[in-house]
Amino acid sequence: MSRIVVIGAAGGVGTRLVGELIARGDDVTAVHRRPEQAGQLRTLGAEPVLLDVADEVRSGSLDGFVQILPGADAVVYAAGASSAPIDVARLVDGDGVAVAARAAEAAGVDRFLLISAFPDAWRGKGMPAAFEEYMGIKKAADVALVATGLDWVIVRPGTLTNRSRTGRVALGPAIAYGDVSRADVAAVLAELVHRTEVSRQVLELTEGTALITDAVDAVARL
Ligand SMILES: NC(=O)c1ccc[n+]([C@@H]2O[C@H](COP(=O)([O-])OP(=O)(O)OC[C@H]3O[C@@H](n4cnc5c(N)ncnc54)[C@H](OP(=O)(O)O)[C@@H]3O)[C@@H](O)[C@H]2O)c1
Repeated sequence: MSRIVVIGAAGGVGTRLVGELIARGDDVTAVHRRPEQAGQLRTLGAEPVLLDVADEVRSGSLDGFVQILPGADAVVYAAGASSAPIDVARLVDGDGVAVAARAAEAAGVDRFLLISAFPDAWRGKGMPAAFEEYMGIKKAADVALVATGLDWVIVRPGTLTNRSRTGRVALGPAIAYGDVSRADVAAVLAELVHRTEVSRQVLELTEGTALITDAVDAVARL
């Protein structure tokens, strides 16, 4: 059993990840933004912790994270604020990652998984400037995490869907762009968090044909 801290635990991927980890017997600390989300996370079997990442960044302190992280085996950063104003997204998807990574280093938690974004997402579709800015924020967060001494893994899923879990994906450092269900993203993260031989890799993820365990075995050999 491992103790995993999931930041953004009440989200579409986050909730499914909490379920995957609990099913594996992990002890899950579920960091969420709104008080009314605690009940659902507790019902899943996690320990909910209320923490607004944007407030934590604005405070300039690591205290909120540092209270949660000691003793954890890994952190998964699944928070995102794509539908919020871009300044809030910058705090949650951008600076929040760097702050959480610094807090992990301060707390002695080495393993840190980040859900980023697929670089080819919606390219050529005439997306608004705010979308390009959001993608830039996601990339800058990747850059900040890669610059740390942590045992990081960055997962860049294609466009997320709410389709059901298939247990099969495409996963690799450079793959063709496509969709992937939040359920399969959660299942891949739950596998990767325990597979410490996969370290300091940026991995793109879409739906595909490989069993998740085989797909992770393959990237572990890279
Ligand atoms: N949509 C796509 O096609 C796509 C593609 C690739 C990557 N991604 C990335 O995948 C990640 C997860 O996506 P998702 O569908 O699971 O998103 P989601 O359902 O919106 O979940 C994100 C979670 O982050 C939480 N959050 C937002 N602001 C926060 C704050 N200030 N403090 C703490 N938590 C906060 C949200 O809280 P609330 O529930 O309270 O809002 C939500 O629970 C995101 O980082 C997104 O950028 C998305």
